[in-house]
Amino acid sequence: MGGILRRAAVHQLNHILRAPRLSSGDASRSGGIRAALARYDGERASIRLFVRARHLLAPLERIAAEVPQSGLILDLGCGHGLFTNLIALQSAARQVVGLDPSSAKIAVARRSSKNLPNVRYVLGYLNQLDMSDFNAITILDVLYLLPDGDKLSLLQRCRELIARDGVLLLKTNDTRPAWKYAITRLQERVMTRLGLTLSQGELHFRSSEQNAALLKQAGFDCRVIDVGNWLPYPHRLFIATPSRPAAARGVTEP
Ligand SMILES: C[S@@+](CC[C@H](N)C(=O)[O-])C[C@H]1O[C@@H](n2cnc3c(N)ncnc32)[C@H](O)[C@@H]1O
Repeated sequence: MGGILRRAAVHQLNHILRAPRLSSGDASRSGGIRAALARYDGERASIRLFVRARHLLAPLERIAAEVPQSGLILDLGCGHGLFTNLIALQSAARQVVGLDPSSAKIAVARRSSKNLPNVRYVLGYLNQLDMSDFNAITILDVLYLLPDGDKLSLLQRCRELIARDGVLLLKTNDTRPAWKYAITRLQERVMTRLGLTLSQGELHFRSSEQNAALLKQAGFDCRVIDVGNWLPYPHRLFIATPSRPAAARGVTEP
C-alpha cells in the first residue's frame, strides 16, 4: 500500500515538474515562459520546482511585456535566470546580460541559457560591471535585500548606466494590504534563513511610496502599477525613466 502511494506521489511530482519540451523557436507562440521553463529540465528537482513556483507566483510575463523588444538589457539580480531566459527567448533582438552575486545561481543560469546567443551572465555586483548604455535595466525582487543607503546607491548607479531613453523596470512588493505583506515577509524570511536567497541578514521591505521616493532621489520619473492583484503577494511594478532636467522639459526656473 505504502509503495503504491509512494509511486503515485512520485508520478504526481514528475507531472508537476515536467515542463513542456519546446524549442526556442516556439518561444513567441507560447509567450516564452514554457520554453524558458524547459531550459531547466536537466536540473535537479529542487531547482525545477523553484523556477516553476517562481513562474506561478510572480507575474513574469506581465513584467516582460514592458521590456523593449530590442537593445541591451541588464537583468540585475537575475538569480537562476528564469526572467533572463524569458525575455531573451521572446526576442532575438534583445541582448540580455544577467548579473548576480550568487555563484551557485549563476552556474544554474549559465547552464539554462546554453546555446542562447543573446544571453550572457556576469557573476558579481553592479559596481563591478564594466558595461553601460543599457536600453533597459530590470530588477525583480532584489531591493528588499538591501538597506536604504545601498538601495539608493544601486538605483543611482543604474541611472548612470542607463541610456538616455532607457527604462528601468523595478519589481517590488508593497507593504499593503497587510495580509499579502505578511505572506511575503514570511516567505522571504524562510528563503533567506535557509540560504536559498543571498542576503546580508535583515530584510528591508518598503512601501510603494518609499520606493517611488527613492527612484526620484536617484534621478528617475516613475509610475507604479499593481501587477499581481489575484496573487497572494502585493506585487508592484515601477516603470521608471531618467528624469529630464527642467530646461529640457521647456520649463524655466524662477
Ligand atoms: C529573490 S531573488 C530574485 C531573483 C530573480 N530576479 C527573480 O525574479 O527570479 C533575489 C536575487 O538577488 C540577488 N542579490 C542579492 N544581493 C544583491 C545585490 N546587492 N545586487 C544584485 N543582486 C543581488 C540574490 O543573489 C538573488 O539571486
